[in-house]
Amino acid sequence: MKALILSGGKGTRLYPITYTSAKQLVPVANRPVLFRAIDAIVEAGITDIGIVVGDTAAEIEAAVGDGSAWGATIEYIEQEAPLGLAHAVLISENFLRDDRFVMFLGDNVLEGGIADLVRQFSDSEWNSQIVLTRVPDPQHFGVAELRNGQVVRLIEKPKDPPSDLALVGIYMFDAHIFEAAKSIKPSWRGELEITDAIQYLVDHGYKVFPYVHEGWWIDTGKKKDMLDCNRLLLENMTSQNLGTVDEKSNLSGRVIIERGAKIINSTIRGPAIIGENSRIVDAYVGPYTAIYHDVLVENSEVEHCIVLENSKIVGIGARIEDSLIGRNVEITRSQLRPKAYRMTIGDNSQIGIL
Ligand code: G1P
Repeated sequence: MKALILSGGKGTRLYPITYTSAKQLVPVANRPVLFRAIDAIVEAGITDIGIVVGDTAAEIEAAVGDGSAWGATIEYIEQEAPLGLAHAVLISENFLRDDRFVMFLGDNVLEGGIADLVRQFSDSEWNSQIVLTRVPDPQHFGVAELRNGQVVRLIEKPKDPPSDLALVGIYMFDAHIFEAAKSIKPSWRGELEITDAIQYLVDHGYKVFPYVHEGWWIDTGKKKDMLDCNRLLLENMTSQNLGTVDEKSNLSGRVIIERGAKIINSTIRGPAIIGENSRIVDAYVGPYTAIYHDVLVENSEVEHCIVLENSKIVGIGARIEDSLIGRNVEITRSQLRPKAYRMTIGDNSQIGIL
């Protein structure tokens, strides 16, 4: 089998972080979401991978490379505009050829990976396998209607959802999907929807097997999703210390300290991860926090946050919570008079001040 990862899109719901970086490269529990998708695919035994890229192609190619870091081969396929998931399949026909494949949206994280799903599908006669999960807000997704365990209808973002079974961004197909994607018309949002292509398969008597996933699934489009995903991943990690912790520091719960990180006179309450060469000095890092590499947290308190590389949080009197802090950010207490907030903040930033 082959794999096709979709890694285009502008990531508008994560502005301002995604003005300068692809949303798929934002780390959760200190590993970019896209790397986690590749991990899951390789773990399922697939090493022939195509990645569909858009505006952020250069950055994604620089981060992922040729796949050798995973023992895989990666080919990049350029999509000139975000014209839909079925369009991404069509432009990848030369890469996919007649092989059965898994399509994985590069901003999705699925608990437990996809090894069992891939095994089931590759041993089967099905033309497609779709992954569904129950959600409280099905109108925001593609939704499936099942009857006697069979898929009868699929609708993209229905106003009046026929069920609470959302299409997870992981799909398996054989080459009949090309016929389907060539036959459908763009939707109201101007995209060739994969949901409509799968409906074509159902309508034309092809076998589409619905798998209902019971664990968690996160589509990491927004800050809240990133923080939730970070929390769920951290909950399942095991403590490890590859850095240094001085005697005055106090670690409790599951804490991962990566190479070169230093914890000085600080309290870390897990689950939390402190990235390579980061320093936590006279500070508190609370549960569900991921500090990426080369960060300084000094004389401050941070909890339930993701802090990206090279940022500094120094001397902040109040605890910082529920926050996604970008790269090269400095949050400090100003000594200047008159006393005032002084900021240089990107477009579409959100700041809550006490
Ligand atoms: C896409 C699919 C939708 C699916 C969702 C999963 O939506 O069109 O059917 O439920 O991914 O993340 P989009 O992210 O393009 O709005």
